[in-house]
Amino acid sequence: MKLTRRDLIRMSAGAGAIGLSGGWSSLLANQHALIMTTIPSTGQQVPSVGLGTVKFRGDPSSPEMAPLKETLKKFYGLGGRVVDTSPNYGNSEEVLGHLLDDLGIRKKVFMATKVDREDQAEGIKRMEGSFQRLGGKIDLMQVHNLRGTDMELETMQAWKDQGRFRYIGITTHRVRQHDEIERYMRKYPLDFIQVNYSMADQAAAERLLPLAQDKGIAVLVNRPFGRGDLFGAVKGVSLPDWAADIDAQSWGQVFLKYIISHPAATIPIPGTSKPHHAEDNMAAMAGRLPDTKLREEMSGFIDKLL
Ligand SMILES: NC(=O)c1ccc[n+]([C@@H]2O[C@H](COP(=O)([O-])OP(=O)(O)OC[C@H]3O[C@@H](n4cnc5c(N)ncnc54)[C@H](OP(=O)(O)O)[C@@H]3O)[C@@H](O)[C@H]2O)c1
Repeated sequence: MKLTRRDLIRMSAGAGAIGLSGGWSSLLANQHALIMTTIPSTGQQVPSVGLGTVKFRGDPSSPEMAPLKETLKKFYGLGGRVVDTSPNYGNSEEVLGHLLDDLGIRKKVFMATKVDREDQAEGIKRMEGSFQRLGGKIDLMQVHNLRGTDMELETMQAWKDQGRFRYIGITTHRVRQHDEIERYMRKYPLDFIQVNYSMADQAAAERLLPLAQDKGIAVLVNRPFGRGDLFGAVKGVSLPDWAADIDAQSWGQVFLKYIISHPAATIPIPGTSKPHHAEDNMAAMAGRLPDTKLREEMSGFIDKLL
């Protein structure tokens, strides 16, 4: 996995140099330039930045859908594939189902959703509902915030064996649940974990990310911008010179490149409801990534602002 990623980074670094003169859109239009991540349990490669959809809510037939549709279109058009949702995010699954249909890309995205029931029959009902709302294709099913984990994983493993999902995993956004996440990583053959990790919140890097790397578990990274707090921390601060060394043209790209350059199979899923933010975030999949030394310098820089 490491070698492949390094190879791809090298490829993207070369393409980055070409793309700078034509702007980020032209760079991203070249699929070869995208930095991919390999899912260790299957070897499947997916684009290294995904989309969080906690804000995808509302009446699917209303005009408020227009910016959400444009956000999804931009994300997909610039090479994004991994979309994370949950039946707990208002009617996000329903909204996504409609928008994916409208855009004709239902079967083309890598869809991750969640379940959080403590009763087995309720869990089954909940997951069947997700299949219905998302149009029959779910790539990754996750236990949401470790609710009913053992029981849900039993059903999820059975459905994975039947081919209903390709991957199963568990999630949290709370540091206080990291010990429990670690126990489940050791107990079950998980394909994915999803945890909070960002330049503002490095707790997962202590044990969870190294363990994920050791055990070949992919990592969806939630709250990659600390729920937006990182943008507050850098408000009015110019990009340092080192940003150019990693082809980052915005703070968002700096924050995402910091995550995807971690050696575990990390895939940040920045949440956005704005097309221009989706465009900005997708550009983090192009150009060079920081090495270990620069990662330390980056994190020292941000620590002083937090
Ligand atoms: N336990 C769990 O399983 C769990 C918990 C939390 C989150 N999640 C998942 O993780 C995803 C990400 O977390 P999150 O959405 O809470 O936090 P986040 O991604 O860290 O931050 C989202 C915030 O950043 C803003 N933003 C996004 N891109 C930007 C850009 N390029 N420039 C400036 N601002 C930008 C967004 O506003 P705009 O909308 O205006 O762009 C939003 O306010 C969620 O959507 C969800 O799918 C899972």
